[in-house]
Amino acid sequence: MRFDGRMDDELREIEIRIGYLDNADGSAYYRQGNTVVVAGVYGPRLLHPKHLQDPKKAILRVQYDMLTFSVPERKKPGPTRRSIELSKVIRKALESVIMLEEFPRSVIDVYIRVLNADAGTRCASINAAILALADAGIPMKSLISAVAAGKVGQRIVLDLTKMEEDYGKFVPENDYYGPGTATDIPIAYNPLDDEIVLLQMDGEIEKEDFLKAMELGIKGCKEIYQDMRKAIKKKYKVVSIEENQG
Ligand code: CDP
Repeated sequence: MRFDGRMDDELREIEIRIGYLDNADGSAYYRQGNTVVVAGVYGPRLLHPKHLQDPKKAILRVQYDMLTFSVPERKKPGPTRRSIELSKVIRKALESVIMLEEFPRSVIDVYIRVLNADAGTRCASINAAILALADAGIPMKSLISAVAAGKVGQRIVLDLTKMEEDYGKFVPENDYYGPGTATDIPIAYNPLDDEIVLLQMDGEIEKEDFLKAMELGIKGCKEIYQDMRKAIKKKYKVVSIEENQG
Protein backbone atom coordinates (compact mmCIF):
# COMPACT_ATOMS: atom_id res chain seq x y z
CA MET A 1 0.00 0.00 0.00
CA ARG A 2 1.02 3.61 -0.61
CA PHE A 3 1.64 6.08 2.25
CA ASP A 4 -2.04 7.03 2.27
CA GLY A 5 -3.38 3.52 1.69
CA ARG A 6 -4.26 3.93 -1.99
CA MET A 7 -3.64 1.44 -4.80
CA ASP A 8 -1.05 2.51 -7.38
CA ASP A 9 -3.71 3.40 -9.98
CA GLU A 10 -6.06 5.12 -7.53
CA LEU A 11 -6.87 8.84 -7.45
CA ARG A 12 -7.20 10.75 -4.20
CA GLU A 13 -10.74 11.61 -3.10
CA ILE A 14 -12.22 14.36 -5.27
CA GLU A 15 -14.69 17.01 -4.14
CA ILE A 16 -16.18 19.51 -6.58
CA ARG A 17 -18.38 22.51 -5.79
CA ILE A 18 -19.48 24.57 -8.75
CA GLY A 19 -20.61 28.18 -8.21
CA TYR A 20 -18.64 28.29 -4.96
CA LEU A 21 -18.22 32.09 -4.96
CA ASP A 22 -21.16 34.50 -5.01
CA ASN A 23 -19.54 37.40 -6.77
CA ALA A 24 -17.57 35.96 -9.69
CA ASP A 25 -19.26 35.24 -13.03
CA GLY A 26 -18.24 31.60 -12.64
CA SER A 27 -16.40 29.71 -9.93
CA ALA A 28 -15.43 26.32 -8.58
CA TYR A 29 -13.91 24.71 -5.51
CA TYR A 30 -11.84 21.64 -6.31
CA ARG A 31 -10.29 19.33 -3.73
CA GLN A 32 -8.18 16.30 -4.50
CA GLY A 33 -7.04 14.75 -1.21
CA ASN A 34 -5.37 17.58 0.69
CA THR A 35 -4.81 19.77 -2.36
CA VAL A 36 -7.50 22.45 -2.35
CA VAL A 37 -7.98 25.08 -5.07
CA VAL A 38 -10.59 27.76 -5.77
CA ALA A 39 -11.04 29.40 -9.18
CA GLY A 40 -13.08 32.50 -10.05
CA VAL A 41 -13.82 33.74 -13.56
CA TYR A 42 -14.79 37.25 -14.70
CA GLY A 43 -15.89 37.97 -18.23
CA PRO A 44 -16.00 38.00 -21.11
CA ARG A 45 -15.97 41.80 -20.94
CA LEU A 46 -14.53 44.55 -23.14
CA LEU A 47 -10.77 44.86 -22.66
CA HIS A 48 -9.28 48.18 -21.56
CA PRO A 49 -6.96 49.75 -22.55
CA LYS A 50 -8.07 49.43 -26.15
CA HIS A 51 -4.59 48.87 -27.63
CA LEU A 52 -4.43 45.51 -25.84
CA GLN A 53 -7.58 44.26 -27.60
CA ASP A 54 -7.43 41.56 -30.25
CA PRO A 55 -10.05 42.32 -32.95
CA LYS A 56 -10.30 38.59 -33.77
CA LYS A 57 -10.69 36.99 -30.36
CA ALA A 58 -10.84 37.36 -26.62
CA ILE A 59 -7.68 37.41 -24.53
CA LEU A 60 -7.44 34.90 -21.71
CA ARG A 61 -5.64 36.03 -18.57
CA VAL A 62 -4.79 33.43 -15.94
CA GLN A 63 -3.36 34.14 -12.53
CA TYR A 64 -2.28 31.19 -10.36
CA ASP A 65 -1.12 31.86 -6.82
CA MET A 66 -0.58 29.92 -3.64
CA LEU A 67 -1.97 31.51 -0.50
CA THR A 68 0.56 32.29 2.22
CA PHE A 69 -0.80 29.56 4.48
CA SER A 70 -1.15 26.88 1.80
CA VAL A 71 2.34 25.40 2.34
CA PRO A 72 4.33 24.38 5.43
CA GLU A 73 6.92 27.11 4.89
CA ARG A 74 5.03 30.46 4.80
CA LYS A 75 4.82 31.63 1.21
CA LYS A 76 5.59 35.32 0.71
CA PRO A 77 2.50 36.98 -0.81
CA GLY A 78 2.71 37.97 -4.46
CA PRO A 79 3.90 36.45 -7.73
CA THR A 80 7.01 34.28 -8.01
CA ARG A 81 8.88 32.82 -10.98
CA ARG A 82 7.07 29.55 -10.27
CA SER A 83 3.57 31.10 -10.17
CA ILE A 84 4.24 33.05 -13.40
CA GLU A 85 5.32 29.84 -15.16
CA LEU A 86 2.36 27.88 -13.83
CA SER A 87 -0.09 30.65 -14.83
CA LYS A 88 1.30 30.43 -18.36
CA VAL A 89 1.12 26.64 -18.75
CA ILE A 90 -2.38 26.56 -17.25
CA ARG A 91 -3.46 29.32 -19.66
CA LYS A 92 -2.05 27.40 -22.65
CA ALA A 93 -3.99 24.28 -21.65
CA LEU A 94 -7.25 26.23 -21.21
CA GLU A 95 -6.79 28.12 -24.50
CA SER A 96 -6.76 24.82 -26.39
CA VAL A 97 -10.51 24.39 -25.80
CA ILE A 98 -12.04 27.82 -25.10
CA MET A 99 -13.76 29.39 -28.14
CA LEU A 100 -12.04 32.75 -27.78
CA GLU A 101 -12.95 33.83 -31.32
CA GLU A 102 -16.58 34.20 -30.15
CA PHE A 103 -15.65 37.29 -28.13
CA PRO A 104 -13.45 39.70 -30.12
CA ARG A 105 -11.92 42.67 -28.24
CA SER A 106 -12.78 41.05 -24.90
CA VAL A 107 -10.96 39.63 -21.94
CA ILE A 108 -11.69 36.61 -19.78
CA ASP A 109 -9.96 36.63 -16.40
CA VAL A 110 -9.31 33.42 -14.47
CA TYR A 111 -8.05 33.78 -10.90
CA ILE A 112 -6.82 30.59 -9.23
CA ARG A 113 -5.86 30.39 -5.58
CA VAL A 114 -4.33 27.34 -3.89
CA LEU A 115 -5.74 27.13 -0.36
CA ASN A 116 -3.83 24.02 0.67
CA ALA A 117 -1.04 22.30 -1.25
CA ASP A 118 -0.17 18.62 -1.14
CA ALA A 119 1.36 18.31 -4.65
CA GLY A 120 -0.52 18.42 -7.95
CA THR A 121 -1.65 22.02 -7.62
CA ARG A 122 -1.20 22.86 -11.32
CA CYS A 123 -3.45 19.95 -12.28
CA ALA A 124 -6.04 20.78 -9.61
CA SER A 125 -5.90 24.39 -10.87
CA ILE A 126 -6.71 23.33 -14.43
CA ASN A 127 -9.65 21.30 -13.15
CA ALA A 128 -10.94 24.16 -10.98
CA ALA A 129 -10.47 26.68 -13.80
CA ILE A 130 -12.27 24.68 -16.48
CA LEU A 131 -15.20 24.10 -14.10
CA ALA A 132 -15.34 27.82 -13.25
CA LEU A 133 -15.26 28.68 -16.97
CA ALA A 134 -18.10 26.24 -17.62
CA ASP A 135 -20.00 27.81 -14.71
CA ALA A 136 -19.49 31.26 -16.29
CA GLY A 137 -21.08 29.91 -19.49
CA ILE A 138 -17.92 30.36 -21.58
CA PRO A 139 -18.28 28.22 -24.73
CA MET A 140 -15.64 25.53 -25.18
CA LYS A 141 -15.02 22.61 -27.49
CA SER A 142 -14.64 20.18 -24.60
CA LEU A 143 -13.83 20.02 -20.92
CA ILE A 144 -10.23 19.14 -20.11
CA SER A 145 -9.01 17.40 -16.98
CA ALA A 146 -5.60 17.01 -15.41
CA VAL A 147 -3.65 14.85 -13.00
CA ALA A 148 -0.04 13.81 -12.43
CA ALA A 149 1.30 10.29 -12.73
CA GLY A 150 4.87 9.16 -12.22
CA LYS A 151 7.37 6.84 -10.66
CA VAL A 152 8.04 6.61 -6.94
CA GLY A 153 10.95 4.31 -6.12
CA GLN A 154 10.24 1.37 -8.43
CA ARG A 155 6.46 1.83 -8.74
CA ILE A 156 4.40 3.63 -11.37
CA VAL A 157 1.68 5.50 -9.53
CA LEU A 158 -1.19 7.91 -10.15
CA ASP A 159 -1.77 11.26 -8.43
CA LEU A 160 1.36 11.71 -6.29
CA THR A 161 1.19 13.39 -2.87
CA LYS A 162 3.94 15.68 -1.60
CA MET A 163 5.33 12.82 0.50
CA GLU A 164 5.60 10.68 -2.63
CA GLU A 165 7.20 13.54 -4.61
CA ASP A 166 9.83 13.84 -1.86
CA TYR A 167 10.48 10.08 -1.75
CA GLY A 168 14.14 9.15 -1.56
CA LYS A 169 15.13 12.80 -0.99
CA PHE A 170 13.43 13.97 2.21
CA VAL A 171 11.28 10.89 2.79
CA PRO A 172 13.22 7.67 3.50
CA GLU A 173 13.02 4.71 1.12
CA ASN A 174 10.92 1.72 2.13
CA ASP A 175 10.07 -1.81 0.96
CA TYR A 176 6.81 -0.92 -0.74
CA TYR A 177 8.18 1.64 -3.21
CA GLY A 178 11.74 0.22 -3.29
CA PRO A 179 14.97 2.08 -4.03
CA GLY A 180 15.07 5.38 -5.92
CA THR A 181 13.51 8.83 -5.91
CA ALA A 182 10.35 10.24 -7.54
CA THR A 183 9.49 11.49 -11.02
CA ASP A 184 6.33 13.50 -11.47
CA ILE A 185 4.54 13.93 -14.82
CA PRO A 186 1.58 16.35 -14.81
CA ILE A 187 -0.79 15.68 -17.71
CA ALA A 188 -3.86 17.58 -18.94
CA TYR A 189 -6.06 15.79 -21.42
CA ASN A 190 -8.88 16.61 -23.83
CA PRO A 191 -10.97 13.42 -24.04
CA LEU A 192 -13.00 14.60 -27.01
CA ASP A 193 -10.01 14.94 -29.33
CA ASP A 194 -7.88 12.38 -27.43
CA GLU A 195 -5.28 15.13 -27.17
CA ILE A 196 -2.72 15.95 -24.47
CA VAL A 197 -2.83 19.68 -23.77
CA LEU A 198 -0.21 19.86 -21.01
CA LEU A 199 2.75 17.60 -20.40
CA GLN A 200 5.59 18.37 -18.03
CA MET A 201 8.09 16.33 -16.09
CA ASP A 202 10.08 16.73 -12.90
CA GLY A 203 12.80 14.08 -12.52
CA GLU A 204 14.17 11.33 -14.72
CA ILE A 205 12.46 8.23 -16.09
CA GLU A 206 13.11 5.48 -18.66
CA LYS A 207 11.03 5.47 -21.83
CA GLU A 208 9.11 2.30 -20.95
CA ASP A 209 8.13 3.65 -17.52
CA PHE A 210 7.28 7.03 -19.02
CA LEU A 211 4.80 5.40 -21.38
CA LYS A 212 3.26 3.39 -18.52
CA ALA A 213 2.91 6.57 -16.44
CA MET A 214 1.31 8.39 -19.38
CA GLU A 215 -1.22 5.62 -19.80
CA LEU A 216 -2.05 5.76 -16.09
CA GLY A 217 -2.28 9.57 -16.19
CA ILE A 218 -4.71 9.52 -19.12
CA LYS A 219 -6.84 6.93 -17.31
CA GLY A 220 -6.89 9.27 -14.28
CA CYS A 221 -7.83 12.25 -16.46
CA LYS A 222 -10.76 10.28 -17.92
CA GLU A 223 -12.03 9.45 -14.41
CA ILE A 224 -11.78 13.10 -13.34
CA TYR A 225 -13.58 14.16 -16.53
CA GLN A 226 -16.51 11.93 -15.57
CA ASP A 227 -16.59 13.46 -12.07
CA MET A 228 -16.61 16.94 -13.62
CA ARG A 229 -19.48 16.10 -15.95
CA LYS A 230 -21.48 14.70 -13.04
CA ALA A 231 -20.85 17.85 -10.95
CA ILE A 232 -21.90 20.17 -13.79
CA LYS A 233 -25.05 18.14 -14.50
CA LYS A 234 -25.96 18.08 -10.81
CA LYS A 235 -25.61 21.85 -10.44
CA TYR A 236 -27.67 22.68 -13.51
CA LYS A 237 -30.35 20.15 -12.64
CA VAL A 238 -30.84 21.91 -9.29
CA VAL A 239 -31.06 25.29 -11.00
CA SER A 240 -33.75 24.09 -13.39
CA ILE A 241 -35.85 22.61 -10.53
CA GLU A 242 -35.55 25.90 -8.63
CA GLU A 243 -36.62 27.82 -11.71
CA ASN A 244 -39.64 25.57 -12.20
CA GLN A 245 -40.67 26.04 -8.59
CA GLY A 246 -40.20 29.84 -8.85
O1 CDP B 1 1.86 21.70 -7.17
P1 CDP B 1 2.53 21.12 -8.37
O2 CDP B 1 2.86 19.65 -8.17
O3 CDP B 1 1.77 21.36 -9.63
O4 CDP B 1 3.89 21.94 -8.57
P2 CDP B 1 5.37 21.75 -7.94
O5 CDP B 1 6.10 23.02 -8.22
O6 CDP B 1 5.95 20.47 -8.43
O7 CDP B 1 5.13 21.67 -6.39
C1 CDP B 1 4.90 20.47 -5.75
C2 CDP B 1 4.44 20.72 -4.33
O8 CDP B 1 5.49 21.27 -3.58
C3 CDP B 1 3.29 21.69 -4.17
O9 CDP B 1 2.03 21.15 -4.52
C4 CDP B 1 3.41 21.97 -2.70
O10 CDP B 1 2.84 20.90 -1.94
C5 CDP B 1 4.92 22.01 -2.51
N1 CDP B 1 5.44 23.40 -2.50
C6 CDP B 1 5.71 24.00 -1.28
O11 CDP B 1 5.55 23.37 -0.24
N2 CDP B 1 6.14 25.31 -1.24
C7 CDP B 1 6.30 26.02 -2.39
N3 CDP B 1 6.72 27.29 -2.34
C8 CDP B 1 6.03 25.42 -3.63
C9 CDP B 1 5.60 24.10 -3.65
